[in-house]
Amino acid sequence: MVVFKVSRVETTPFDGQKPGTSGLRKKVKVFIQPNYLENFVQSTFNALTAEKVRGATLVVSGDGRYYSKTAIQIIIKMAAANGVRRVWVGQNGLLSTPAVSAVIRERVGIDGSKATGAFILTASHNPGGPHEDFGIKYNMENGGPAPEGITDKIYENTTSIKEYLIADLPDVDIAAIGVTNFGGPEGQFDVEVFDSASDYVKLMKSIFDFESIRKLLSSPKFTFCYDALHGVAGAYAKRIFVEELGAQESSLLNCVPKEDFGGGHPDPNLTYAKELVARMGLSKSNSQVEPPEFGAAADGDADRNMILGKRFFVTPSDSVAIIAANAVEAIPYFSAGLKGVARSMPTSAALDVVAKHLNLKFFEVPTGWKFFGNLMDAGLCSVCGEESFGTGSDHIREKDGIWAVLAWLSILAYKNKENLNGGKLVTVEDIVRNHWATYGRHYYTRYDYENVDASAAKELMANLVKLQPSLGEVNEIVKGIRSDVSKVVHADEFEYKDPVDGSISKHQGIRYLFEDGSRLVFRLSGTGSEGATIRLYIEQYEKDSSKTGRDSQEALAPLVDVALKLSKMQEFTGRSAPTVIT
Ligand code: G6P
Ligand code: ZN
Repeated sequence: MVVFKVSRVETTPFDGQKPGTSGLRKKVKVFIQPNYLENFVQSTFNALTAEKVRGATLVVSGDGRYYSKTAIQIIIKMAAANGVRRVWVGQNGLLSTPAVSAVIRERVGIDGSKATGAFILTASHNPGGPHEDFGIKYNMENGGPAPEGITDKIYENTTSIKEYLIADLPDVDIAAIGVTNFGGPEGQFDVEVFDSASDYVKLMKSIFDFESIRKLLSSPKFTFCYDALHGVAGAYAKRIFVEELGAQESSLLNCVPKEDFGGGHPDPNLTYAKELVARMGLSKSNSQVEPPEFGAAADGDADRNMILGKRFFVTPSDSVAIIAANAVEAIPYFSAGLKGVARSMPTSAALDVVAKHLNLKFFEVPTGWKFFGNLMDAGLCSVCGEESFGTGSDHIREKDGIWAVLAWLSILAYKNKENLNGGKLVTVEDIVRNHWATYGRHYYTRYDYENVDASAAKELMANLVKLQPSLGEVNEIVKGIRSDVSKVVHADEFEYKDPVDGSISKHQGIRYLFEDGSRLVFRLSGTGSEGATIRLYIEQYEKDSSKTGRDSQEALAPLVDVALKLSKMQEFTGRSAPTVIT
């Protein structure tokens, strides 16, 4: 057994180590500065307090992006030096964010140990590679992201840090499954490398009826395609979709995890998941090949998802509403009923209508998965989702990209129980259109203005807030832009009081609510690594089932017009068009 020594290394603070919506995300060139990562990790240990760190079992892994392998070795050495008892690493350092959450909650180590927390190494949907982004976040014992109390403390510590602890361990081989033991001043320290997929696969099998999904996937009527965008989802897709559920290997696209995501932008939306979008018959240059019946994609760390039907896009806001409406019948985990449902504020109100219909508890929370976690820990929420391509349930405390795909496959399997041997397949599009016919449709679109000058973005937002007290004036402006939109009846900045811990989150997005239920929401992204990203969310409710089949950009055109002119988007940002429309 290798015996190690601990040294204290002097350091000085770096500016800007404030964790955003989901941890600290910066360019790789920032992270590789000497002591940069070390300062953040030590600040995290100090925020957790030495008593909690000593003897802890920590998971350290991520989406495999560039710099992960170096970072894992550094964190192992610092964990040893800080008295952590053992570190668990997914093979090759790979674990999706939902798998980390599952591992914290479910996994039992070979010596019977349970994890107490995790460092997740990912910048989620941001590109990777030497010139792109790296990220790190800490998750707690419940499997969810650290609450603001802890992240604020971490940040405070980064501003005054003077030293960190590191052990002189040799690098651990993280490609080989097994345990390496070390001896240190505080006793034994182990590193256990384990299979990245098996705990997660086991959890999925306990939630869904794999047999019925297998029948669907093996039916010649049903065709399937999954795009991991070269993110970590690839490490799970083959195991689950091909080995467990019998999908063809050729139905997997970009499922080999790569450090730079193959040079792409691993964000599952209509702009960045180009190959899948083309295959599903949704791009302009359609080929003659018949698209699959079902397509889905994941982001870098596999917590996001995009669901597509043949030549059909399912908005994330509709997706969570449809999952909630069908969960009890189609997914065994929910057969006893849903405890409640929740969505983030900018997500469309499609879920609200389902909750009302089914008489379910309903919550509207600020953007960020941690708010759902609190509700779930209190037994108030079973299914939740966000417009930002995140969907999930209380099986873990992160959103879960593959779970969402399995949920959709379960619904398709359930609706087609009788049809697989004869009869017409009920498609993704049928399911969505039937949902609209029952519940009405929330036309929805999001405009993103990425990498805008940060002060210009702030001014735009300040101007929108300044307008809010005088609705009379707002309505005059609105009428001057379009006479065919309804009246603004309420305008505010969204504020949330957590029903579980009573904490208050202010300034969570600027809202303009219209008399007919339409909404305009403006928010600054909390996940970028450079400049500012303005998000504009536009929504309009249509109850009349004869009018739910329109093209959404066309239906929303008047509201878009109002939003752009009211906010003076071009004037403030110099942009005549958004970077991405979803
Ligand atoms: C992450 C969080 C989500 C959140 C999203 C918002 O993905 O996990 O919960 O919805 O960020 O991103 P934004 O860039 O809009 O702040
Ligand atoms: Zn992600």
